[in-house]
Amino acid sequence: MTASAFASAPFLVGQSPISSAQNPTPAEESLCPVVSHRWVNSEYKHLVIEASPTALSAKPGQFFNLLCPSPDESEIWLRRPQSVYRIDRENGRIEFLYKCVGRGTRGLATLAEKKLINMVGPLGIGFSIDPAFKHIVALGRGVGIATLGPISQLTRDFKVGLTAILSARSPDFVMADKLFAQAGDMIAVLDSDGTSAVANVEAILERLIAHGKADAFYTCGSNRLFQLMKRLGKKHDIPGQVAMEQIMACALGPCYVCVRTFEVDGRKELRRVCIEGPVFDLQEALGW
Ligand SMILES: Cc1cc2nc3c(=O)[nH]c(=O)nc-3n(C[C@H](O)[C@H](O)[C@H](O)COP(=O)(O)OP(=O)(O)OC[C@H]3O[C@@H](n4cnc5c(N)ncnc54)[C@H](O)[C@@H]3O)c2cc1C
Ligand code: FES
Repeated sequence: MTASAFASAPFLVGQSPISSAQNPTPAEESLCPVVSHRWVNSEYKHLVIEASPTALSAKPGQFFNLLCPSPDESEIWLRRPQSVYRIDRENGRIEFLYKCVGRGTRGLATLAEKKLINMVGPLGIGFSIDPAFKHIVALGRGVGIATLGPISQLTRDFKVGLTAILSARSPDFVMADKLFAQAGDMIAVLDSDGTSAVANVEAILERLIAHGKADAFYTCGSNRLFQLMKRLGKKHDIPGQVAMEQIMACALGPCYVCVRTFEVDGRKELRRVCIEGPVFDLQEALGW
């Protein structure tokens, strides 16, 4: 039987653009002590771990696949992917900000301080910034805000201006606001007062574009906000990146559970979010 008989055979769909230059970080399985683990609101927890040198080499937008303790008697199958929320190289720490949604994350939430967490990573291809950018816009909602968090570090490193638009149900769920406020301008838009409506976010983006404050777009966490940035990016010729979230199994490339469709030069391509992403070109992604 030839390789083409297997739907899951590597590189039958699209051409994998991965190169060691794009993702030079080695991944490893490590056992890391939990430094702190606190609720930030009724749904999200902030997990800080003491990281190994390899884990600390994580780039913004990359993720770790975490082995979650069971919240009950039965076993948890598969690890759960979580983006890096903050890379604190000075103190040797990696931080995660995650939402408790199911058994995996509920189990994760039981991990006490000083316990060890088993994680594999850093994984995937993260965000990139062109040093020629003067000012960029990050637009996130929900768990997407956690994934966009390290953009605040990237912009500081590259001395690029940043406006972060954080969309949330209510003020309680506007997370990472301090992190973004330290790095640039922060605008919260809420469901509770109607400011999160796409038309309002569009008006904010158009204003930033008109003031020369949108050399690039970065987004995560909402399909409608992704579609908005993609449309405005196309209209104004603004480059951009989107971090996609997709249910994963291996997170290393071979299982093809995480495949999504992209459009490259008018041609549909299937790509694996775990190793060809999770960060993709805004115009090539088709949303979810
Ligand atoms: C690359 C990547 C980075 C991520 N980063 C973060 C992060 O920084 N913070 C965070 O809170 N979450 C993040 N997620 C989502 C996180 O992986 C899921 O919420 C988690 O796996 C759910 O596990 P669970 O067992 O608690 O829930 P499950 O019982 O598996 O699922 C509960 C609900 O969550 C949905 N769900 C499960 N996995 C995903 C997923 N991957 N994406 C979207 N919905 C999902 C299910 O459809 C179901 O409705 C990320 C996902 C990916 C792929
Ligand atoms: S999760 Fe297995 S290939 Fe992506």
